[in-house]
Amino acid sequence: MKFFIDTANLDQIREAQTLGILDGVTTNPSLMAKEGITGETNILKHYVDICNIVDGDVSAEVIATDFEGMIREGEALAALHPQIVVKIPMVKDGVKACKYFSDKGIKTNVTLIFSAGQALLAAKAGATYMSPFIGRLDDISTDGLGLISEIRLIYDNYGFTTQILAASVRHTMHIMDCAKIGADVMTGPLSAIEGLLKHPLTDIGLAQFLADYKKGN
Ligand code: G3P
Repeated sequence: MKFFIDTANLDQIREAQTLGILDGVTTNPSLMAKEGITGETNILKHYVDICNIVDGDVSAEVIATDFEGMIREGEALAALHPQIVVKIPMVKDGVKACKYFSDKGIKTNVTLIFSAGQALLAAKAGATYMSPFIGRLDDISTDGLGLISEIRLIYDNYGFTTQILAASVRHTMHIMDCAKIGADVMTGPLSAIEGLLKHPLTDIGLAQFLADYKKGN
């Protein structure tokens, strides 16, 4: 399973990159705003800064919701850097734009997926990735991980190559459950990724090893 970090914070992206396990980055307009990155020029520069830190795919979201606008913005984003993946919302014109970019060999990530039907459409449109938001489904008492299982089944039935990018991942159990189900990618915060490191028996065992070493040296 690929690990993406879901942030526009450059320090956190660098931190995840230095761990050596990072496969890419996802951003969205809310995450950009959270870092105080506003204005088209600054936003575009920020995407390039992110690409220069990591080796893998970097999702950059269009703001337009109409076909022509998405094409215009998506082409400009794709031209920024070879690692850019054009992130498109799951709306009617988004499906058309996804097909357009896929025909041109430009990578896409169809976002704001909340149903298996939307996932099926994204795959039919040739999306590289599509992002079901599991945390936001859990927030409204709906089974986010259940959706990942449903999509995995549908994609495997027909051999769709669109990658299931589990998004809105909030904690370590989301990551582990996505891995068990067979999500291709998960994107989450640094805290959830680093949470995988932790086990009290590791800490106790290490303290004991170090104490025993000191006794004999
Ligand atoms: O990747 C999607 C993500 O940014 C949404 O996460 O926590 O706002 O639901 P969240």
